[in-house]
Amino acid sequence: MDQALVSVVLAVLFASCSSQYEPTWESIDSRPLPVWFDQAKFGIFVHWGVFSVPSYGSEWFWWYWQGQKLKSYIDFMKRNYPPAFMLTTKHHEGFTLWGSKYSWNWNAVDVGPKRDLVAEIADALRAHSSLRLGLYHSLFEWFNPLFVSDATNKFTTNQFPTAKTLPELYEIVTKYRPEILWSDGDGNAPDNYWNSTGFLAWLYNESPVRETVVTNDRWGYGTICKHGGYYTCTDRYNPGHLLKHKWENCMTIDQKSWGYRRNAELKDYLTIEDLLKTLVETVSCGGNLLMNVGPTHDGRIAPIFEERLRQVGQWLMVNGEAIYNTSAWRAQNDTSSPGVWYTWRPQEGAIYAVFLQWPDSGYVALNEPLVLEGKTEVVLLGYAQPLKWQPLKPMGLKVLLPQLTPSHMPSSWAWTLRLTGAA
Ligand SMILES: *[C@@H]1O[C@H](CO)[C@@H](O)[C@H](O)[C@H]1NC(C)=O
Ligand SMILES: *[C@@H]1O[C@H](CO)[C@@H](O)[C@H](O)[C@H]1NC(C)=O
Ligand SMILES: *[C@@H]1O[C@H](CO)[C@@H](O)[C@H](O)[C@H]1NC(C)=O
Repeated sequence: MDQALVSVVLAVLFASCSSQYEPTWESIDSRPLPVWFDQAKFGIFVHWGVFSVPSYGSEWFWWYWQGQKLKSYIDFMKRNYPPAFMLTTKHHEGFTLWGSKYSWNWNAVDVGPKRDLVAEIADALRAHSSLRLGLYHSLFEWFNPLFVSDATNKFTTNQFPTAKTLPELYEIVTKYRPEILWSDGDGNAPDNYWNSTGFLAWLYNESPVRETVVTNDRWGYGTICKHGGYYTCTDRYNPGHLLKHKWENCMTIDQKSWGYRRNAELKDYLTIEDLLKTLVETVSCGGNLLMNVGPTHDGRIAPIFEERLRQVGQWLMVNGEAIYNTSAWRAQNDTSSPGVWYTWRPQEGAIYAVFLQWPDSGYVALNEPLVLEGKTEVVLLGYAQPLKWQPLKPMGLKVLLPQLTPSHMPSSWAWTLRLTGAA
């Protein structure tokens, strides 16, 4: 090979490893989403910060973290598809849960607990679980004088992103190596004010997490549901149909708040039936679910949140096969049986139909699958014997459910039929 050709090859190689992405939306949006995200399907959002409290300062968080509460829940999760754990590092009031150099006396190391809570949580996750770390970060801050002054100048100046937001973003990525960076709070400022594409080009080309990191779409006014990584569109987004682009439904167990509320009433909390319905609808339509809990000021997971997390974990123990690493099928729900949602594992030739109500009739009619007698096999996940079924006209099948006492039910809330030898 002659000298000139070698240098051309080297230049091409160099270009493709070190600066693949340009600071434009066209280039940023062309990056394929790292595959782990679509496979994981489920994450826990934790809204915890100075807003969780009027008073701060206990040592309890670490105690509970090391205790059995979340850990045993995490043990429920399948190791192959570790879900994400998303922590608020800084919300709109600007208080940082790490010792930010750029947030003097308004961070958890200088005041309050006097601990780097982001570091402790990141270390605990890595030491005790296979969960992937996600960091939530608000671009703007309600009361920061630099932001207020830029806003007064209609964002023709950018003192705040230059002195605060961008340095902090580089800091949390390099220090804590998150695999999700969940951006929020554009303060009605456009993405060029935030230098979002410049930052994302660095994140994707040069940062220590460039291979695995995933981001969302909240990178400036007008970018939501349009640019960035996966789409979040609105809070509690659940379109009910398949989207072409990967998306996430971020939602709360307490329907009225992201942070912990002492005055919440029982009716404000979603039931496990509500949560599983949302999970199944979301995954069937190609989304991931990010389910939020708000710990108390001293880091406790209130029993109602703990119960919901454990219930989701118990359900996934039996039915996780219909969720993790699945793809959207050609039909998302059943045309004539309400409350039946489909997923698919093409690699195993398996179609999953999750039904949300146990029918009084003793059978479930699935009107979508193409079946073949002698070939199609139907299994209820968590139940040993294959189930009997009859073909329906013009297509589909009627699956006869076994007669089970409650103690023999594989799950108490929603059930999964696995069809093989069907299309
Ligand atoms: C903005 O992004 C560009 C890359 O396009 C980068 O060179 C520059 O340092 C960034 N500015 C700040 C303040 O981070
Ligand atoms: C996940 O599914 C894809 C196909 O959709 C398959 O290629 C891959 O091996 C699966 N991953 C695991 C860990 O099973
Ligand atoms: C289920 O599917 C039908 C068509 O197949 C659709 O019209 C309907 O809106 C879907 N139901 C829900 C709850 O998404």
